[in-house]
Amino acid sequence: MNQNDYFDRLAVSGNPLLFTNADRLKVLRLKERLGELAGRRVLEPGCGAGPLTEYLSDWVGPLGRVLAFDCSPGMAQEGRHRLANRTNVELVCAEAETIAVQSFAWDLVIFFRVFPHFEDKSAILRRFRPGLAPDGRLVIANLEGSENLNARHSGFSEPVRHDRMPGARALRRLLEEAGYRVGALIDEEDEFFAEAVDARIGPPGRRRAR
Ligand SMILES: C[S@@+](CC[C@H](N)C(=O)[O-])C[C@H]1O[C@@H](n2cnc3c(N)ncnc32)[C@H](O)[C@@H]1O
Repeated sequence: MNQNDYFDRLAVSGNPLLFTNADRLKVLRLKERLGELAGRRVLEPGCGAGPLTEYLSDWVGPLGRVLAFDCSPGMAQEGRHRLANRTNVELVCAEAETIAVQSFAWDLVIFFRVFPHFEDKSAILRRFRPGLAPDGRLVIANLEGSENLNARHSGFSEPVRHDRMPGARALRRLLEEAGYRVGALIDEEDEFFAEAVDARIGPPGRRRAR
């Protein structure tokens, strides 16, 4: 089974990774970290069935826009179905490795619960950097820290059992090598949050959350 088959199956399993009540509390914490998003343009690679996309749609509001995509046709279909009434959301089936990335188009690119699944993480980070608007940010977020997430993945079946989330130090290096300046970087038991800007054009001196 390849990764798309795995997520296609999850999409129709009755549990396409929608949020639990505990997850929702963490999503509110994520919102605090992200700050005001009204009117913003957000790109969400690997959106799955769109549990965060739904929140992003609310957060950017009627003047904002969310482009969410997933390479699993099943997940993308499920997401499109769930979010069909959201006029500020477009959800398509596409791969992060090949989707066209328009230059300077996005105020926020958010990799939420997807980063471990990228085979060539460095290449993905480099691909999306030109898509950031001059004051745009890249965020990589998970609902648990890297150690916990990697332990969970080890218990899953192929093909995701070997997918790994880099820890804070390794991710910082990846981001810097890919041309980003890193701001907040949190890797704790129940949270992973990393924020970065394009080192050449991003706003200077973003405050570190911790
Ligand atoms: C763990 S799921 C999480 C989905 C969603 N972000 C969520 O929080 O529910 C990871 C998703 O990333 C997608 N994915 C993995 N690699 C991808 C890639 N290279 N391009 C686009 N989507 C990808 C998978 O198909 C899967 O739906």
